[in-house]
Amino acid sequence: MSTCPDVDVAMEDVRRGFGATQALKGVSLAVHTGEVYGLVGPDGAGKTTAIRLMAGLLLPDAGRVKMLGEDPANTRSPVRESLGLVPQRNTLYGDLSVDENLHFFAQLFGLSRKDFTERREQLLDITRLSRFTDRRADALSGGMYKKLALACALLHRPRVLLLDEPTNGVDPVSRRELWELLYGLVHEGMTLLVSTPYMDEAARCHRVGLLYAGELIAEGDPRELARQHGAAASNFEAVFLALVEKRTGGRAA
Ligand SMILES: Nc1ncnc2c1ncn2[C@@H]1O[C@H](COP(=O)(O)OP(=O)(O)OP(=O)(O)O)[C@@H](O)[C@H]1O
Ligand SMILES: [Mg+2]
Repeated sequence: MSTCPDVDVAMEDVRRGFGATQALKGVSLAVHTGEVYGLVGPDGAGKTTAIRLMAGLLLPDAGRVKMLGEDPANTRSPVRESLGLVPQRNTLYGDLSVDENLHFFAQLFGLSRKDFTERREQLLDITRLSRFTDRRADALSGGMYKKLALACALLHRPRVLLLDEPTNGVDPVSRRELWELLYGLVHEGMTLLVSTPYMDEAARCHRVGLLYAGELIAEGDPRELARQHGAAASNFEAVFLALVEKRTGGRAA
């Protein structure tokens, strides 16, 4: 198992099934400190399952998962305080306002009033939600909702942030804004793992893991992977399809 000090998240030969479905079939990957790691793959590839395992919300059937060197499923481990998670599906209270949601999560994380006041202002500012603090969460646009979910997950200043499809259903302008916001956080020292079904987002990551039908079929610098497959870095879809074809012998491409 990787015990390198610069590996924040590690999976080694992780298997996880749900009944007859093998969601992860022996996945190994490593996310290094300070990098943006993209878990890229189509619907049903196993992205959410991998993220839930990294967050300690699921246990592997076999293999090992480490978050900052610890078992993330150990509820007594302080590592949980260093972890931020934005799940794929609705995570906010729709009938609470922007401010009430922030307040709720601050209480959950046990933030002092002073810290909350300071971070609330900062997060509202970077997510540009300051003008909407009274709006109910379920009345926000898709992009604003995602930004609020992100703000709630950042209140306790996690060292590692896991984002499950943060840009799904978000318009291109908000998508770009969200990525700018994420780069800013990484620049300040945070490690980021982000899942996405959008191949074009691979180019935004320092490294990517390509997940297909529960298997990691490639891992590396997206520019290098594109170069190896004779594709432009902006055409990651071609890289992915070539890799799938190679793996399946053309059956599923
Ligand atoms: N709780 C569960 N019970 C039964 N099957 C599940 C469960 N969670 C996931 N699966 C199955 O495991 C496989 C991987 O699902 P997962 O949600 O991890 O994929 P994903 O890559 O996140 O897909 P999407 O992009 O659609 O969110 C799928 O076949 C899915 O139906
Ligand atoms: Mg998912």
